[in-house]
Amino acid sequence: MALRPFILAALGVASLLGVAACSGDGSLEAGKDLDPDKLTIYSAQHENLTQAWAEKFKQDTGIDVQIRYGSDSSMGNQIVQEGAKSPADVFLTENSPAMTTVQDAGLLATVDDKTIAQVGSDHVPSSKEWIGIAARSTVLVYNPSKISEAELPTSIMDLQDPKWSGKWGAAAGGADFQAIVSAILDTQGEARTAAWLKGLKDGGKIYQNNIAVMKAVNAGQVPVGIMYHYYWYRDQALTKAGSGNTKLLYFHHQDPGAFVSLSGGAVLKSSKHAANAQKFLAFVTSPEGQKMLATSGAKEYAVGTSVASDPALEPLDSLEAPDIDPSKLNGPKVIELMTKAGIL
Ligand SMILES: [Fe+2]
Repeated sequence: MALRPFILAALGVASLLGVAACSGDGSLEAGKDLDPDKLTIYSAQHENLTQAWAEKFKQDTGIDVQIRYGSDSSMGNQIVQEGAKSPADVFLTENSPAMTTVQDAGLLATVDDKTIAQVGSDHVPSSKEWIGIAARSTVLVYNPSKISEAELPTSIMDLQDPKWSGKWGAAAGGADFQAIVSAILDTQGEARTAAWLKGLKDGGKIYQNNIAVMKAVNAGQVPVGIMYHYYWYRDQALTKAGSGNTKLLYFHHQDPGAFVSLSGGAVLKSSKHAANAQKFLAFVTSPEGQKMLATSGAKEYAVGTSVASDPALEPLDSLEAPDIDPSKLNGPKVIELMTKAGIL
């Protein structure tokens, strides 16, 4: 991670160095290097977006922020382990399952009504204990020189068929893909999900992350892959080096493969800075915070009611995503089923 002087000045050198040391490794020690007087964010969101939000929030409010980074599952499990003693005031995720894990442990406060009103109702879980801060769509990336449009699957569920064996890729170890599996579980039930996972184990090719899936499809190593939309749009906006030979298919018609995953924001019930933590969530979901997301080049969807997403994207309301209550997505069950299937 590059240390930028601008952000160092805003967030404090010590906290940022702490961030660099522990980013994504899941080995964070409770309270270490954290200043109890500062608003503490545990973030599994992309670092540049979280930092930009924190920087602007500090500028606008004068409230000091420190950020600890990790993956969805490492941060979610860390908060559950720390329980009411967690130094976290705010939790930001990339996907919903890590948030529901913390929610189900009874550790989240209710989000302020005014903040909830800033976000479209599709992006608020029924629990109202957290809120969508960004959204990302599941897509099928394919290489038209390796497969014709007529041969493409019409549902993500088709991929378990032996005829797809060796022909599709997925980043099965990551939180993004596991969120997609949680949508399959929610819409299809356990038996069908287990059957689909067996198809993945038998016939899918496993890659390290979304970008590796995209690059493998781009290079013609596999004709199709499952990923989130924004990695493709970012590459298209830059060099197209990893996506120039590929196109995207959106499954539509409420298919589990049309799942739109919410990145979440929450305030911890145990927060000693609860008012400032609620303020931070209000900022992130405000027209200003959402506009920052929409214009940042992140290519994730904005979820604020009055903010348009990046115009390069397929409109969110045209995707025909399945109707899912994100506070019901079951991360631990997904891990159990994927482990049983021999994938994890
Ligand atoms: Fe990501």
